[in-house]
Amino acid sequence: MQPAVSRSDFGATIAPTYSPANLIPHRAQGSYVWDTEGQRYVDLAGGVAVTGLGHGHPELVEALRAQGDSVWHVGNVFTNEPVLRLARALTESTFAEKVFFGNSGAEANEAALKLARKVSFDHGLAAKGKTEIVAFEESFHGRTLFTVSVGGQAKYSKPFAPLPSDIRHLPFNDVNAALAGITERTCAVIVELVQGESGVRPAMPEFVNTLRARCNEVDALLIFDEVQTGIGRTGRLFAYMGYEVTPDILTTAKALGNGFPIGAMLTTQRLAEHFTAGSHGSTFGGNPLAAAVAAKVVEIVRRPETLGGVEERHEFCMERLREINARTSVFSEIRGRGLLIGAELNERFRGQSAGLVEKANEAGVFTLMAGPDVLRLAPSLVIPLDVLAEGLGALEQAVNNFVSRQ
Ligand SMILES: Cc1ncc(COP(=O)(O)O)c(C=O)c1O
Repeated sequence: MQPAVSRSDFGATIAPTYSPANLIPHRAQGSYVWDTEGQRYVDLAGGVAVTGLGHGHPELVEALRAQGDSVWHVGNVFTNEPVLRLARALTESTFAEKVFFGNSGAEANEAALKLARKVSFDHGLAAKGKTEIVAFEESFHGRTLFTVSVGGQAKYSKPFAPLPSDIRHLPFNDVNAALAGITERTCAVIVELVQGESGVRPAMPEFVNTLRARCNEVDALLIFDEVQTGIGRTGRLFAYMGYEVTPDILTTAKALGNGFPIGAMLTTQRLAEHFTAGSHGSTFGGNPLAAAVAAKVVEIVRRPETLGGVEERHEFCMERLREINARTSVFSEIRGRGLLIGAELNERFRGQSAGLVEKANEAGVFTLMAGPDVLRLAPSLVIPLDVLAEGLGALEQAVNNFVSRQ
């Protein structure tokens, strides 16, 4: 018998970095979640773009169970079979030739940024000042001190000063600013192909092309942070596959383990060689349990029926959100790629995305905010259309309640 707990224990025992909803999820299957009171919800939040294959996917449960029955952890003094399979799948299906595994998106980005600095160092260029990291305003790259400083939201980094130095923030999607701001001093440029946390803002192809061209000119590394856009979220295994350019380094996490913590940094053979033995590491990175689940995730997402179903679900969501908006005028813009969709609240409702998410919970559907002005949806890539319709129906009810309370 487990000891009884309740939502009020959160305030009593857990550091208040989050302010979770009042309900506590208790059980989940597919795109449904039940709380401790037995109330059922449609999950259009996907654990913040993590459960790309929904909850309790039988093949993932079996992969975890089978690995749980064999070996959990051996440490990095040994390699293991699942991680070798996973690395093979990731390198076979992308530009990359080498992978470093960590446990989260922040760790994947930390590895990418450290690698960029080390490449410069190893070439004797760091001493000549080639150490600057270029990132973009409003971007989000994680919560370690380096990644939170690289992220373009000062509110998350300022209280933790002194911060790592030589980081420059440029406006997102601004071609001229990129041309001027990326210089011979730049050792790496890091960008999200859809800025997820700050409002679901896709990078324009011309902007991404400019970053690639300018990085080539000044010999800087281009890092795509695909922590949120990766593993099928945009309808391609990685969002960069919908652009005309390839990065030098790609980071991913979130949906890679479908909820089992794992992060990965993908790169080329030439760059990976700078991460010599002992230069970087992680106790749990690439452990057999996480790797076994992630290898199965990649296998399932790569199936044509998984990736092929994303666009249909995207269209369905967009159409229903436009209908809701036609009746309520609550949104000023509905945008996104694949199943990462943002609906920006119009002037009248600015700053109230948390209130709408709460109304959605009350109506029986999980959604997300993406900053104070944007409602975000990140459902499972394989959510059945009738369940999606049910969730969007509940969202419509939530929007009606939200608008009428104003
Ligand atoms: C684009 C992006 N990068 C990095 C992160 C950090 O990932 P994690 O929370 O797994 O460290 C996030 C998390 O939201 C993200 O959206």
